[in-house]
Order: sequence, then C-alpha cells, then structure tokens
Amino acid sequence: MIDTHCHLSKDDYHDIDLVIKEDEEALISEIVVSGCSLKDIKEVLKLKDKYDIMYVTLGFHPEYANEVTKDDLEYLKRSLKEKKVVGIGEIGLDYHYSKDNKEQQLWLFEEQLKIALEFDLPVVIHSRDATLDTIETLKKYKVKGIIHCFSGSLETAEIYIKMGFYLGIGGVVTFKNSKLKEIVKLLPLTSIVLETDSPYLSPEPYRGKQNSSKNIPIIASYIASIKDCSISEVEKITNYNARHLFDFSNK
Ligand code: NI
Repeated sequence: MIDTHCHLSKDDYHDIDLVIKEDEEALISEIVVSGCSLKDIKEVLKLKDKYDIMYVTLGFHPEYANEVTKDDLEYLKRSLKEKKVVGIGEIGLDYHYSKDNKEQQLWLFEEQLKIALEFDLPVVIHSRDATLDTIETLKKYKVKGIIHCFSGSLETAEIYIKMGFYLGIGGVVTFKNSKLKEIVKLLPLTSIVLETDSPYLSPEPYRGKQNSSKNIPIIASYIASIKDCSISEVEKITNYNARHLFDFSNK
C-alpha cells in the first residue's frame, strides 16, 4: 500500500531507520514525504536517497507565505530536478492559521502552481477554511493532484473530482464523530488516495499518538468497512490512483 502524504523529520522521529523498517514490515511499498519549508526540503532531499520506499514532494506550505522569497522559489525549482521528486506540495491556502495575509498566500500558491505546470508535476493541496479561494485558484491552472486531508462537503468533493483531483483520505475518517465517513461512503474509490499525514492524525485506536505510514492498512481497512468492499479492492484501486499520479519510476 502507498502513503501518498506524510512528513518525516528528525524533529518528530528520533529513529527514522526504525520508522522505515516498520513501514516495510507493514507492506508499505511507497511513501511520499512532503518537504514544505526550506528546512524540511533540505532534510527530505537528503533522506530520500537513503530509503528505497521514500519519494518526496517539495513546496512551500501557506504558513510560510510571509517568508518565502523569489530566491527560495528558484531553489525549489532547482530541487525539483532531483531524482525521486514526484510532485509539488504541500501548497495551498490556510485561512484558519492566518487570514491577514491572504494576498501573500495567494501569491505563493499561484507561483507554485505555475512551477507545477512548468515542470509538469502533480500538486498536493493544503486547504483549510479556504475552499472557495482554493477552487477559484485551481481553476486558473490546469494542474492534477491531490486535495490532501480532504474534509469538506460532498458537494465540494464532487467539484474537486470533476476538476480531476483525487481526495486524500487519512486517519480523520476513523474518528468517532467525523462527518467524513458519510461522504467517503458515497465517493467512488477511483477518486480516493490513502494518506497518513504522519506524524499527525493517527487513526483510531491510536488517535492522539504519533502516526506513521505503517498505519495505512488501518485506514484502508476502515474505508473497506464503510464502503462494504474488501481491503484488497481498496488497496488495488487506491494504489492504481497513486501510481497514475506519481511517477515512482523516477529513481
Ligand atoms: Ni501534511
């Protein structure tokens, strides 16, 4: 199974060798680690060559919108040419975190969407309390990608799917009061990819504990139960989706 979105930093895990070993034991075939700050990008670029199952997406998270410079974007572009870089992200808009810098956030988002087009790479989108602006902005650029940690309404899901995006579903779907269950039940598996967003958002029964990609089978099994299908069907279709989007032959 594939984890299409996670984070892997020494700040979070004291033994990354062990984390990767446990992922492999859980039969995780690929993990896509997001480097989303300057520091992160440098760190994941170093790590990716050490671990076979690790691929990366690079891009500046909206929380750095006030800091990122044009030089940083040039550095991003240079880094995208490295092996095992399979996409741009996470990028997007976060009005929950800050509403005061919408202009800077939109600037950073659009600059990176232009880079995605230039390099013909998929994007991993972070959108929090910013659905309308995210949709409007994405409509201007014909990019493909994932709406990471999707948590919107069925109507919003359908808009993204129509635009050709996959919806990233992770641990939140297993939470007791999550409304996402009802929505995932109605969505076709052909529009879903699995993600952990680790170290955050561990699925039940590990909610609140540190997450890692080895928990992907728990998410797959939960989705299978709400959609009344087999785990192998969830695995087969979501793997197909992830491989359709990310070029894992880029070693
Ligand atoms: Ni993330």
